[in-house]
Amino acid sequence: MWHDFREQFPIFEESIYLNTCSLGALSRQSRAGVERFLDLWREKGASAWYELWLGEIELLRERVAQLLTCGPHEIALMPNVSSGLSAIGSALDYRERNRVVCAELDFPTLPYQWHARARDGVEVVFAESRDGIGIPESAFGDLVDDRTALLAVSHVFFTTGWTLDLRTLADIAHAEGALLLVDAYQSAGIKPLPVKELGVDILLAGGLKWLLGGPGIAFLYVSEELHGGLDPRTTGWFGVEDQFDFNAGQRSLREDARRLEAGTPSPASVFAARAGLDLVLDPGVEVLGARVKAMMRLLKVMASERGIEVKMPEDEERWSGIAILPDEDPRATVRALAGEGIIVDARPTGVRISPYAYNTPLDLEIMLDTIAALRVD
Ligand SMILES: Cc1ncc(COP(=O)(O)O)c(C=O)c1O
Repeated sequence: MWHDFREQFPIFEESIYLNTCSLGALSRQSRAGVERFLDLWREKGASAWYELWLGEIELLRERVAQLLTCGPHEIALMPNVSSGLSAIGSALDYRERNRVVCAELDFPTLPYQWHARARDGVEVVFAESRDGIGIPESAFGDLVDDRTALLAVSHVFFTTGWTLDLRTLADIAHAEGALLLVDAYQSAGIKPLPVKELGVDILLAGGLKWLLGGPGIAFLYVSEELHGGLDPRTTGWFGVEDQFDFNAGQRSLREDARRLEAGTPSPASVFAARAGLDLVLDPGVEVLGARVKAMMRLLKVMASERGIEVKMPEDEERWSGIAILPDEDPRATVRALAGEGIIVDARPTGVRISPYAYNTPLDLEIMLDTIAALRVD
């Protein structure tokens, strides 16, 4: 099965690709999706919008809803995660509660949203990491109180791969009357995300990484219970009822999560993302996640056999698909590996490796042997 899966990703014909947490590899299916978009553009011009592209957008929304076990009306499509965060950040009311609790290990675009609202009196409070790898849920419990509007954190931290328990975080937030917002960019596709069961109120993810959909499209889930109270200040004609009535005199927002959408989406990204999601939903997130975990176990064992340190959480329950190999000069090592056709990533603390279901034990072996040889030189 995994051999056939890997066959869908031509990058392996010339490279060893171990950088899915930056960008999932291009599949034959996503390429075919984009080519279909181009063909329709050529054949139909603007009528492609009404005849096909708007339908494709709704199909993508349905697939995302399937991934998150929610309704399509709870999904807004966004061009990237930052835009989704800005839209929801602009739509909430901070007058009664002005604090947002984030984590110091979050991807910065998450806390930036609330730094940007400082002039509305919003304050960001950070849970700190003792070991630079993880933060226990209890640290958030210590910070969330009746001043907290949102607990806004990553599901998986982008450099260390540490995974938070969302059900516990939801209980912490809700016990104080706050909402839970989750940046699931580094978990969607390899960790199940049944948002209702987990008690998540707002969630962001996107095609770029583990959902194999490429850039240009992100997903914003907002629980239907919140829709009526959302008053977005970043806005546009895709967020209103009867958008094709072109009523400039009145902005009558849609009832559902789409009230957070702004303007024309990129159909090329929509086609690529749906093909990626189909590749994920077919085996299913549990199966893909189990394969990633098996790769991470192997990475740990194989690295220790070669005397190479791997930084990842000790408890397997905290694992995702990301690990750091500490390195004195990560950029130079990444460049040297690229010269050998091995694609990984540099972060200030080391070389970042992110194996996915299309990788094999041999990929890990070659990557580690090459690093070991570089260190001897
Ligand atoms: C966890 C996380 N959130 C957000 C982003 C950035 O999101 P975007 O560029 O779509 O705004 C990244 C990385 O690209 C990320 O790893």
